[in-house]
Amino acid sequence: MNDTNPSAGGTPAIEIQGLTKMYRGVVALQDLDLRIEAGSAFGFIGPNGAGKSTTIKILATLIRPTGGHAAVCGVSVTRHAERVKPLVGYMPDVLGVYDDMLVVEYLEFFAAAYRIRGEARARKIDEVLELTDLVQKREQPVKGLSRGMGQRLGLARCLLHDPQVLLLDEPAAGLDPRARIEFKELVHQLRRQGKTLVISSHILSEIGEMCDTIGIIERGKLLFAGSIGEAKRRLGAQQGRVFRIRVAEEGEDRRNANAVMEQFRGHPDVAAMKEGGPGEVLVKLRDGAADPSFLSRDVVRTGLSLLHFSETEFSLEDVFLHVTKGQVA
Ligand SMILES: Nc1ncnc2c1ncn2[C@@H]1O[C@H](COP(=O)(O)OP(=O)(O)OP(=O)(O)O)[C@@H](O)[C@H]1O
Ligand SMILES: [Mg+2]
Repeated sequence: MNDTNPSAGGTPAIEIQGLTKMYRGVVALQDLDLRIEAGSAFGFIGPNGAGKSTTIKILATLIRPTGGHAAVCGVSVTRHAERVKPLVGYMPDVLGVYDDMLVVEYLEFFAAAYRIRGEARARKIDEVLELTDLVQKREQPVKGLSRGMGQRLGLARCLLHDPQVLLLDEPAAGLDPRARIEFKELVHQLRRQGKTLVISSHILSEIGEMCDTIGIIERGKLLFAGSIGEAKRRLGAQQGRVFRIRVAEEGEDRRNANAVMEQFRGHPDVAAMKEGGPGEVLVKLRDGAADPSFLSRDVVRTGLSLLHFSETEFSLEDVFLHVTKGQVA
């Protein structure tokens, strides 16, 4: 198949079926099925020890699964590992030790391993140093890099051979706020180039900003895979829609907020209510309650000043906490 444009034939960037990995009796992955479409940014989340790094390393052909199948752009990671390597860029969670090398030598070493030679090698190294903002560190020893700069070098390294699929294991860990913002920008840039990104992270807000789809894994089992919007919608459908109402208060006694609660008590469409911040009431509607606009209308009708009315959105943290049970392997 033509690997330069994997989306053309609808071949997924990643396809995993029944993947299992055992480490001397420890089950790290259990019958994992997962499909990641070409061109998407997939956030891989789960508690410590869930199996994210294990999955990523199998896709990077660094470890072999105990059972099952995994393919990158339609190429099997076990049967054709040598054909998968040029397709993937793997950024490990920890950079290896290359004590005596300069940054530029480190990149030359990996570029040589990818058989990038001569002019093209020098050009590519300059390009990735630029992309990851490491130009100033070019002639510095790798061992003198801070943690965040080490992360950037790891990213630079995995961009050298211009791979279709980027496998980034906790890429933003240790980055300072500016580097995080730049990293997000880089992710968007790589997506515009049509690359597929698999990003594992514990920082869910970042996953929310960078990714369109997520997979939640726990104890080696996939609990959810799909779009972030779908995950939130499902949670909303299970938990009921919640609306935030804020009215103007004259004193500190929540008089007007209490009046709002009085007004909706016993209403057939209201399942529950809760006090929020000053002047604020959270109203959960019953399943099947059709039109929430009666809430704002009724508040205004009683003469109270409505300052705010919105539907509360579930966050990725809400989704994560709901889907996982907090079990650490
Ligand atoms: N080389 C190894 N030898 C033995 N067990 C291992 C090895 N690597 C991973 N494991 C085990 O496999 C399971 C999955 O580990 P993995 O590193 O994939 O988790 P993770 O989701 O990446 O966790 P974290 O969020 O902490 O990085 C854990 O129980 C871990 O202890
Ligand atoms: Mg890990």
